[in-house]
Amino acid sequence: MNELMTDNGNPRHIAIIMDGNGRWAEKRLFPRILGHRAGVKTVKKIVEYCVKEEIAALSLFAFSSENWRRPKKEVEMLMELFFGTLQTQIDKLDKNNVKLRVIGDKSAFSKKLQDRILQAEQQTEKNTGLTLVVAANYGGHWDITQAFQKIAEKISKGELQLEDITESLISQYVTTAELPEPDLFIRTGGEQRISNFLLWQLAYTEFYFTETLWPDFDKEVFSKAIESFKSRQRRFGRTGEQVVNLQKSKKL
Ligand code: FPP
Repeated sequence: MNELMTDNGNPRHIAIIMDGNGRWAEKRLFPRILGHRAGVKTVKKIVEYCVKEEIAALSLFAFSSENWRRPKKEVEMLMELFFGTLQTQIDKLDKNNVKLRVIGDKSAFSKKLQDRILQAEQQTEKNTGLTLVVAANYGGHWDITQAFQKIAEKISKGELQLEDITESLISQYVTTAELPEPDLFIRTGGEQRISNFLLWQLAYTEFYFTETLWPDFDKEVFSKAIESFKSRQRRFGRTGEQVVNLQKSKKL
């Protein structure tokens, strides 16, 4: 649980489901892929904004484990777009001290894409600014499952005991272990669901839903979400009065 906040009250970790690319394109009678391309432009702007605002981590849901059910052509184009974006943006991310992490079951991707991801992660691994997490072929159930598989393997080797399994141990084995849990979750495009994103990590996260389609999401809508977050009182199970007292004593 993350109870320590930044001095300016900004969220440290923001998680976003970027929904609405297809509808944005369909409204303009464009093919859906143009919606995803416009979505990449929004990704660039939002990453720049997070760098400027010194947000510690931004997690973006780029491709879910369920997205393979889309038409083959759309899946292929999304893979190409992901590959091409990594290729063209990685030096710029590196220059801006951004550390890139890709989470998800990467084994389903082509060898070429897996190599590109690995190279991009290695190039930026020592950076200390924004951690940009791209969730690709990711599902929250998968994340918890792979954590349990790793823990079970250690138990079978005698490196861990059954009694060692605690919430904090599980948190060390989910894919975002090195990051604070998300403070703010945003979903664009009007739907109000988590869609199997960071299930373990979102337990105490504040949720913000907007009708804005992802390609139209901009600094203004983003600031509104952050302002809404700042106006909320996070109690982590305590009473409102306890939270006010703790804030006064600067323990929260
Ligand atoms: C949801 O819109 C969006 C996706 C499934 C893909 C998001 C991908 C990108 C923005 C590009 C790649 C990202 C990176 C980080 C390089 P939708 O197609 O479900 O929209 P709809 O609900 O309107 O149909």
